[in-house]
Amino acid sequence: MMSNQELDSLKKAAALTAIEFVRDGMTVGLGTGSTAKHMVMALGDRVRAGMKLRGVPTSRETAELARQQGIPLIDQDNAWIIDVAIDGADQVDPDFNLIKGGGGALLKEKIVAASAKQFIVLVDHTKLVPVLGGLFPLPIEVVHFGWGSTAREIESLTKSRVVLRERNGAPFKTEAGNIIVDVHIKRIDQPRELELALNNIPGIVETGLFVNRTDVLIVGTAQGVQTQHIQRT
Ligand code: A5P
Repeated sequence: MMSNQELDSLKKAAALTAIEFVRDGMTVGLGTGSTAKHMVMALGDRVRAGMKLRGVPTSRETAELARQQGIPLIDQDNAWIIDVAIDGADQVDPDFNLIKGGGGALLKEKIVAASAKQFIVLVDHTKLVPVLGGLFPLPIEVVHFGWGSTAREIESLTKSRVVLRERNGAPFKTEAGNIIVDVHIKRIDQPRELELALNNIPGIVETGLFVNRTDVLIVGTAQGVQTQHIQRT
């Protein structure tokens, strides 16, 4: 078993590889989480060295870090063109589909990933799984209104336990003011079909399934960083 510190150094190594994809003048989608944090800090170094960048943060936490690092942020009300988005993930399957949303930022993360010309995913090797699901529940952002019924629909579709995410004894609130349910699905054998079916349930805002979105996967391993370029289908 690797220590947290060892895992963190793998995340950092992956982040340093990822920022090699960033060129002067680019608009960069800035992911959320402990892996993405290394990437934002490394980009800060580049900006201080004179690189011109604009960032699109996927959470308030990332926005705050980017500001501290001196990375200029884009006005979020305008239609943007994102050259590259770089983000972590909670699980990656052999087809490069992902579960994201462990930190609750999945909605902005998906909007940013979807509007980026290139989506780069950074993980340490422990996130690679033969099939999505199992130990990591699937986060789903739902509106508060009628969430109990929405959860029941999700339960009956997935035949899985649905748990309201809480923080400090109260429902966890997303930045968009919604709540999150975590769905304990044993195996997600057909992520694309599941995403479509879930998106059909009223009350669901977005799911943490990222299907066929990864362009580059960067994995930190004890043997070094591995980079894979993926042809999306
Ligand atoms: C945030 O909502 C998530 O999607 C993160 O990107 C994901 O949880 C990965 O986080 P870590 O890099 O901290 O594992």
